[in-house]
Formats: sequence, C-alpha cells, structure tokens
Amino acid sequence: MIASFYDELAPFYHLLYGDWEAALAHQGRALAGLLARHGVGPGAQVLDAACGIGTQTLGLLTYGYRVTASDISPGAAGRLREELVHRRLQAEVRVDDLRTLALAGDASVDALIACDNSVPHLLTEDELLQAFRSAHRCLKPGGLVVLSVRDYAATPRQNPDVRPYGLRYENGQRFLATQVWEWDGDHHYDLRIYLTRESADGHCDTRVLSGRYHAVTIDQLMTLLHVAGFTQMERHDDVLFQPVLLARKR
Ligand SMILES: C[S@@+](CC[C@H](N)C(=O)[O-])C[C@H]1O[C@@H](n2cnc3c(N)ncnc32)[C@H](O)[C@@H]1O
Repeated sequence: MIASFYDELAPFYHLLYGDWEAALAHQGRALAGLLARHGVGPGAQVLDAACGIGTQTLGLLTYGYRVTASDISPGAAGRLREELVHRRLQAEVRVDDLRTLALAGDASVDALIACDNSVPHLLTEDELLQAFRSAHRCLKPGGLVVLSVRDYAATPRQNPDVRPYGLRYENGQRFLATQVWEWDGDHHYDLRIYLTRESADGHCDTRVLSGRYHAVTIDQLMTLLHVAGFTQMERHDDVLFQPVLLARKR
C-alpha cells in the first residue's frame, strides 16, 4: 500500500517543497557536514535506504559520497534514475525494503540514512526492529545510521489535523497540496494528501493519496536501535528541518 502511495506521488513529490532544488543543496550540505564530523567523509559508501526521488541522495553525491539508493516504491526509484541522468550524476538505484535490505550481511556500508520521516511508515515495533537489524547487518563495524523523523512526543493530537503545503506554480499550472491526518488512538494516524492541479485553461483534477504512519517517539526509536546492536545514540535538532537521530554500530 505504501509503495503505491509513493508511486503515485513520485511525479509531483518535488512540489511538496517550496523550492526542491534549494532543499537538495541544503540537505546535502547539512548531512555531509554531520557525517564528516562523525568520521564518514567524502568518498565513503552511503546507503540511502528510503531514497524517494532523491532529496538526500542527489545532495550527498555532489559532496563526493558514493551512494547506493533504495526505496520500496518503484515509481520513486524510477524518478530518481531520471534525476540522475538529467544531472549527470551516478548512483545505483534499487527497489528494496528497509526490513529486508539486499545489502544486509555485506557489512560494506559506512553510513545508512533514511530521512524525512521514512521509518514511521513501519507500523509496529517488530517491523522497526527488523529494519534496524537489517541496517546493522549492512554496516561496517563502527558505521553510522542516520534517521530524520518527526518529533511525535511534541505533536499535539488533534482530529482532523489539516496541514497545507501551499500553492505551487509549474509549467503554467497551479498545484495545491494539503495533508490531512486522522488519529487512530495515540500511536497511529491515517494520512491523506489532496493534490489539486489547475491547468492554464481552468481544468482541475484532484488526486487523493492515502497512507498510514506510526507515531513512534525518538526515545522509542533509540531503545529499538539499542536492541538492534547500535550504540552512542545522539539527537541533533539543528541539522535538518526534523530532528536527526544518529547511532553507531558496535
Ligand atoms: C516521506 S518519503 C521521504 C523520501 C526521501 N528520503 C526524501 O526526503 O525525499 C518516505 C519514503 O520512505 C519510503 N518507504 C516507506 N516504507 C519503506 C520500506 N519499508 N522500505 C523502503 N522504503 C520505504 C517511501 O517509499 C518513501 O519514498
């Protein structure tokens, strides 16, 4: 279900940002700085294990990292391949699941990243633990895992919670995107994205995409990372627009 959500969103994903190109540059610089401060410098092997259309992959490539990118959505992976060709950048792109990563067991990766609230798509603690164990098995000893996530401990539960992205203009068309959250208890919510496109001739169409999130807290994620074999957990609130959680393979 989540793969088809992101498949349908992939052609429009950049429109969720006011300026996606600026976000690539900012996130690339911020993540490269964080990795380098923790001993993973340019030239190191990074696995972006929830790459989407490449917001972090494309940025990190420009800083000299070698990136393998994977995502459960074939549509997002396909869009990233097109972005790479367009920008004359190179990275291997795969369709893969965080829970059962193909590189698990290789211990070949210096840092694994999963950014912009990707791991909360795993809806139970068992699934999160499976993903963290899989990440652990991809990493070299001492390798880093870097996650950016919403701070659900500080998120008010209001029903419905309507969150507009804003109005965007592209190729003579207007796009209006809005998120609607509907809480199902304290720990899960259903998400809808309403994406309306208005053409120059006034014709409108609206897509409604439905997904679900697990409002897992950063403390819970740290506990699960510890159980999966990670150590030296750190939280950084000044790197990206969401808190960044970093841990090291023992
Ligand atoms: C909010 S998007 C972020 C994408 C990208 N990191 C970015 O910032 O543009 C979340 C991504 O997580 C991916 N995802 C969700 N569940 C996954 C899973 N089990 N394995 C791999 N990717 C997954 C989705 O397909 C989606 O591309």
